[in-house]
Amino acid sequence: DWTTQSFIKESLETIKNKVGNKRVLCGLSGGVDSSVAAVLIHKAIGDQLHCVFVDTGLLRYREAEEVETVFRKHFKINLTVVDARERFLNRLKGVVDPEEKRKIIGEEFIRVFEEEAKKLGKFHFLAQGTLYPDVIESVSFKGPSATIKSHHNVGGLPDTFDFELLEPLRELFKDEVRQVGRELGIPDLIIERHPFPGPGLAVRILGEVTPERVELLQKADAIYIEELNTFKIYNAIWQAFAVLLPVRTVGVMGDQRTYDHVIALRAVTSSDGMTADWYRMPYEALAKISNRIINEVAGVNRVVYDISSKPPATIEWE
Ligand code: XMP
Repeated sequence: DWTTQSFIKESLETIKNKVGNKRVLCGLSGGVDSSVAAVLIHKAIGDQLHCVFVDTGLLRYREAEEVETVFRKHFKINLTVVDARERFLNRLKGVVDPEEKRKIIGEEFIRVFEEEAKKLGKFHFLAQGTLYPDVIESVSFKGPSATIKSHHNVGGLPDTFDFELLEPLRELFKDEVRQVGRELGIPDLIIERHPFPGPGLAVRILGEVTPERVELLQKADAIYIEELNTFKIYNAIWQAFAVLLPVRTVGVMGDQRTYDHVIALRAVTSSDGMTADWYRMPYEALAKISNRIINEVAGVNRVVYDISSKPPATIEWE
């Protein structure tokens, strides 16, 4: 529509004028915001943009491959994918405290990103997919939100990072960003994708993060998301994901007793993530998802559905 097109047209001009012939580095997360920012900037300045995507090993099933396909193959954007899976998993060994996990992941992320940026030469600008709500939240929430959960979306970069910021989406809300993304030809897979926390699956694996537990959760989560799409309810939900609980429960298979993992399913509706209501999931969808997870993911014998709203519960379990 007209507003989206005029936003894009004006942004391209602004970006071109601001950047001139300098180089721009962009940390791609695979999420909507950084994706739209990257494609918009690429459209304005082409190869002066270089994107870096860090595979932390804590991403959703096949997410790293999808990012490569879309950005490198389809959009022909300069992209470096850093395989840092071992680094993150090694640092998370034995760690169970959620804030400790966040701290480690945040630090390691900056380190990996910084190392990679150095290899790629000198950049003047750092592009970020900061939205209007991020700007507001980082200004007004100095207290509770910073201590309840240390989000590292805004202002998370150390002072040693000597870049000028390029934030072309600073004035937009999420739905406007999605419209801009669609207009730019970014596939629905990315545009419609639910938000994903920076620390990734580490905060959806309660207890210790091990390669086996990551794999188990990725499989369960992939089945969940696939079925939400099959039932055509994915887009009615703000965020849906599987959580791996740190307990085992008794089950029965044939005449054998099992003692296996529990998967909790979370699905919420929300307009900004600040408050949220649990999603009234149709029983048929729940039944199919539960059956498939228990039958297809070895080591899971129980699935539960989270019926808590925010507040007082948070969207994530950690
Ligand atoms: P909560 O769990 O606080 O989540 O209700 C609100 C929104 O924030 C996301 N979230 C995070 N995002 N780093 C992030 O980048 C984090 O540490 C983090 N913790 C929660 C969550 O997925 C939801 O969209």
